[in-house]
Amino acid sequence: MDSVKELLSMRLPVASKLSWLPEAASTTADSVDWIFYFLVWSCVGLFLLVVLPVAWFCLRYRRKHEGQKALSQVDHNVKIEAAWTLLPCIYLAFLFYWGFIGFVDLYTIPVEAKHLRVIGQKWNWTVQYPDDDISVSGQGAIIGIPLGQAIRLTLSSQDVIHSFFVPNFRIKQDVVPGRYSTLWFESTKVGEFPVFCTEYCGDEHSKMLAIIKVMPQDEYKEWLVKKKSENVGLPPAELGQKLYTQKACNACHTVDGTPKIGPSFKGVYGHMTQLEGMSPVKVDDGYIRESILEPQAKIVKGYPPVMPTFKGQLSESDINALIEFIKSLK
Ligand code: CUA
Repeated sequence: MDSVKELLSMRLPVASKLSWLPEAASTTADSVDWIFYFLVWSCVGLFLLVVLPVAWFCLRYRRKHEGQKALSQVDHNVKIEAAWTLLPCIYLAFLFYWGFIGFVDLYTIPVEAKHLRVIGQKWNWTVQYPDDDISVSGQGAIIGIPLGQAIRLTLSSQDVIHSFFVPNFRIKQDVVPGRYSTLWFESTKVGEFPVFCTEYCGDEHSKMLAIIKVMPQDEYKEWLVKKKSENVGLPPAELGQKLYTQKACNACHTVDGTPKIGPSFKGVYGHMTQLEGMSPVKVDDGYIRESILEPQAKIVKGYPPVMPTFKGQLSESDINALIEFIKSLK
């Protein structure tokens, strides 16, 4: 899915129009839903159990005329007091036990789980497949997953706190810079399930979206093969154009001349650019390369110094392709 607009208009898959929750599509989703529904309905029941008698007492025993005095006052009842202490204790202990079992399930990763690495970065997700030698990234990246296979995610952040949320799988995990967090799931349904960032992380937080595409095993294998061959043999400028969206350069840089968080790429190549506190430089291969790898080395006048480094995320040929792409935007 290339267009973020299309992605933003995507609806969460739901089982039916009356469902409160998005369609459950993982092995742990049903147990999460059961405890959720139990909590909601038991709280509704307890609320009525308290509020209805109070309302009835207010009406039934209200003061009928000025100066009416109470005939007696009861201020202790051991049986009732014991009941309202013990019964909630049992209810809460039961809820705790149930929740804890679910929690342990959610964080006990099956040994046969397939390993993926997830990197959060303003404002897109990169998912690396260490066993298959591919990676996907960019706003609206399609993360292919084989049906019925346990998946273990190791999550880390390039910059600020993000949060990886897949409503249909009922999983959510904060992604914190400087440490790894883990998460696992096993999908039970074929389909496309949106991934959200649920920790406010800046301007384009709401566009930090991706899609988990669950496919049957054989379709998944085909997808892998296609993914591997995708960027082979592309002309550099075309590869650069792809990387421009895949690496989410488009989150900050436009190609039509409008300034965004960073300067536009249109028509900059070969021209002089004004820098903050330095003499102007010519935008050439060396300058673009430095701007990608060490973005804080030179700051273009009028823009904030917020670009993260792409060191280690782009190969030599990727960088060359991006340079060729920028060169082509006359
Ligand atoms: Cu990343 Cu919000």
